[in-house]
Formats: sequence, C-alpha cells, structure tokens
Amino acid sequence: MNGPGSSAPLVRLEGVTKVFNGSGHSTTAVRDVSLEARRGEMVLLMGPSGSGKTTLLTLIAGLARPTSGRVSLFGRGIERFSTRELQAFRAERIGFIFQAFLLIEALTAAENVGIVLRFGRTRRSERAARAGALLGELGVGHLADRFPAGLSQGEKQRVAVARALANGAELLIADEPTGSLETRQAVGIIALLHEQARKRGAAVIVASHDLRLRDFADRIVTLRDGAIA
Ligand SMILES: Nc1ncnc2c1ncn2[C@@H]1O[C@H](COP(=O)(O)OP(=O)(O)OP(=O)(O)O)[C@@H](O)[C@H]1O
Ligand SMILES: [Mg+2]
Repeated sequence: MNGPGSSAPLVRLEGVTKVFNGSGHSTTAVRDVSLEARRGEMVLLMGPSGSGKTTLLTLIAGLARPTSGRVSLFGRGIERFSTRELQAFRAERIGFIFQAFLLIEALTAAENVGIVLRFGRTRRSERAARAGALLGELGVGHLADRFPAGLSQGEKQRVAVARALANGAELLIADEPTGSLETRQAVGIIALLHEQARKRGAAVIVASHDLRLRDFADRIVTLRDGAIA
C-alpha cells in the first residue's frame, strides 16, 4: 500500500504533447508538459482560457492519448492499456468534478451519488447507506432526499464531490469546480477536496483560473499556450 507521502507518483507526465489536427491546420493544445501528482496532494493547473488545462486533464484521465510523450497512471504507462481497460480504470479509480455539476435532475442527491456504485455492482441498500454517509461527511446529509432543482449551487457542488468520492477514487480530477460559486463556497469546496484527498491518500488535480484557489494547492502548474510557463 502507498500511503500519503509515498514516493511513487499516482500520475506522471513526461514530455507530453497533444496536437489536434483540423482541416488545413493543427493546434498544439499541450506542449512538452512534465508533471507529477502524489497521494494526498492537490495540484492546481492554472492559465488563461485556451492554455490547455482541460486538454491536459483529458490526457491525465486517459480520455485521450498523447501525440508524443508518456502518461503513467498508478505507476503504469497508459500506452499499455486497451481502451476498455482505461474505461474500467476510470470507473473504478478516478472521480470527476465539473463546473456544471452534471447532476441528474430526476434523481435525488443520494441517488446521484449512488449511481456510480452501480458500475461496481454494489447492493441497493449498501449504495444508499454509502451515499448517505458521504453526503453527511460533506455537510449535506440532511439534503439526501432533495432533487437538484431544490439545491443551491454550493450544495450541488458538494453532492458532485460526494459522487466523485463514492467509488473510492484514488485520483480526483476537477475542471473549473468553483466557476459558478461565490468566494465563500469556492474556498469551502476546495478546502473540502484537499481534506478528503489527504484523508484518503488520493491525489487531486484541479484546473482553474480562479486565483482564490492558490492557497490550497501543494503545487501550482501554470500553462501558457499549452506549455508550462
Ligand atoms: N478536440 C479539439 N479539437 C481541436 N482543438 C481543440 C480540441 N480541444 C481543445 N482544442 C484547442 O486546444 C487549445 C486548448 O484548449 P483547452 O480546452 O484545453 O483550454 P483551457 O485552458 O481548458 O481553456 P478554458 O479555460 O477556456 O476552459 C485551444 O486552442 C482549443 O481550441
Ligand atoms: Mg477548460
């Protein structure tokens, strides 16, 4: 077992470049980026719009393969994974948090959290219990039976964080998770993510241009035109 502070990085990028080829022109979205994220650590990817933050997250999550360079997850190069293996990997070991929350409006808070456990073939009663416990831990246990329409932005984001944690993810990937939140809520969510990561020995990688988040990061990587500035 690798505990927090263990020396083996969960994520390692070595000289990663991603080029998108369009009709007649190509865009180098990520240029020769090397970085690491270890257990218990929060890495903040900053940079202006179009600097390559989201593209880098998709490479880290194995949603896209690099044009050149190497991406390793949990100590294994992703070029060794089949697409199906990468899918299973994401479902079991990676949690995602987005600006737009992506909660399902027809499901309650608890059901939104429990849904990721279906893929893990967890029993219904256990799903509900685990979802309820996580929501409680994130300070929204009293909202378990509410539908998203009846939740504030900050509450929705907490439910989204609970969902990202529900499958026992060891790597949390957040793209602009505070974009639609006020300062107090934004800082609260990031503090919560950091605390959960430390506690679970997970790594968190957050892409954001929100300067309010800088104080929480263990490491800040600033991108400009796809390269580390
Ligand atoms: N699928 C794609 N095909 C072609 N070009 C793309 C694709 N995805 C991203 N790009 C380009 O790559 C560059 C980086 O985009 P990316 O979305 O990674 O930036 P970002 O830093 O996340 O920006 P924002 O802060 O606005 O979300 C941009 O020039 C974008 O147009
Ligand atoms: Mg983006």
